[in-house]
Amino acid sequence: MSGGRAVSAGAYDLVVVANRLPVDFTVDDAGELSWTRSPGGLVTALEPMMQAADGAWVGWSGAADLAHEPFDADDIRLVPVTLSAEEIELYYEGFANDTLWPLYHDVITAPAYHRNWWEAYRAVNRRFAAAAAEQVAPGGTVWVHDYQLQLVPAMMRDLRPDVRIGFFNHIPFPGIEIFAQLPWRRQIIDGILGADVVGFQRASDASNFVRAVRRLTDLTTRGQVITLPATNGRSERHVRAAPFPISIDSRHFDELARSPEVQQRAREIREELGNPWTLLLGVDRLDYTKGITHRIKAFGELVKEGKLTVPDATLVQVASPSRENVEAYQQLREEVELLVGRINGDYGHLGHPAVHYLHHSYPPQEMAAMYLAADVMLVTALRDGMNLVAKEYVAARSDDRGVLVLSEFTGAADELAGAVMVNPHDIDGMKERILKAVQMEPREQRKRMRRLRRKVLTDDVSKWSRSFLSVLEAVPQAAAGPSVPAPAGVAAGAGVSS
Ligand code: F6P
Repeated sequence: MSGGRAVSAGAYDLVVVANRLPVDFTVDDAGELSWTRSPGGLVTALEPMMQAADGAWVGWSGAADLAHEPFDADDIRLVPVTLSAEEIELYYEGFANDTLWPLYHDVITAPAYHRNWWEAYRAVNRRFAAAAAEQVAPGGTVWVHDYQLQLVPAMMRDLRPDVRIGFFNHIPFPGIEIFAQLPWRRQIIDGILGADVVGFQRASDASNFVRAVRRLTDLTTRGQVITLPATNGRSERHVRAAPFPISIDSRHFDELARSPEVQQRAREIREELGNPWTLLLGVDRLDYTKGITHRIKAFGELVKEGKLTVPDATLVQVASPSRENVEAYQQLREEVELLVGRINGDYGHLGHPAVHYLHHSYPPQEMAAMYLAADVMLVTALRDGMNLVAKEYVAARSDDRGVLVLSEFTGAADELAGAVMVNPHDIDGMKERILKAVQMEPREQRKRMRRLRRKVLTDDVSKWSRSFLSVLEAVPQAAAGPSVPAPAGVAAGAGVSS
């Protein structure tokens, strides 16, 4: 990963690097390009800091060959990285979402290993690193996000040895027995080790990473700290790998769900569904990690056995479209739709399907109304870095009602002890737990929901980002090397964010 060239420094104290920019671009019929902000947990979390610290966000626009000059949106500099249609296929759909995604989610589906995907991943990571290196001020901070960009930390360090570098992995980090399959495992480890602080969702992810470092390199590790010896004129460095469980903007979600419009909409949803006795809800990206078929199967069996009856009970499954060019996602869609069709054919009535399946995305207001309307929330992921839907459901329930059924294989399970825990592979166990949730007394619901809400409202996304950045900014400042020319009008060493 060495051999990088030092580049001119930019003017931004805090630079976030993520696969996507927090905006959606649209091109109208006349070919005019416009953008709107896309609401997302990460941007909400980082926005105040970025506005206060002179922040820039480097990311892909979401479309092919879309080149756009950097621009300002709400006091944040947005720096688009252009990807060609071929790079989207090889880097994003290929290496990121058909190699790393299944590998890191415990090979739920088989990862594909293609050398040309890897080459594209490297090339695109290099482009992100170069774009970020041009933006960050001398001695500034760069925070790199997620599995799409694991090579960026080391590339960044080559280009800008003067800056602090953080990396946060939003998805699980697998055990070494699984990670070892990756033909480029060593390069990925070296890429991540370019960071000063490496954050994970769960303590087990952080220890899996440290174990992989121990197994695949000669580096010394002590607890969470990995030591990189002095080389090529660079001094010894320490990398800290630790858990920083992400959260949501809980206050905002709580307020949204308390608004009269959302409360009214929640009542309408129940009416539109024929006022069922029990409304069960699933909300996911249509992804094979989410355990959607497992949950629908369990629900279908409960109906078949007469333990739940239609229309007294109904399941609403929101499955938002995702990664639709990847074959495993196309197959999953077929499986889910076949299963829903069968259950509805067998157990639905005119105007009352057993399962309401919605292949759409909805705005946060509609989601909050659905959460409020639902008696039982089903989060049955087979593997999930965190699962923010579980936290959103809790944040929406200021009435202290509703039951969260939560897979033990989510990061959220480490934190949300008031949930009814399930192993989604155990269909009988899951059926039993779903029935327990359906039949839970209001008193017990209240007790559990209060416990859940205390956790979710206290540990919000801004606490998450502050805690990560405070650990990163406690890293001793690297001296700005002579090879880092200051940009015009910026004195070397100025603009340090800590
Ligand atoms: O959880 C990982 C993640 O990449 C998120 O950052 C993102 O919101 C989600 O998956 C959807 O991913 P994509 O950018 O591939 O649509």
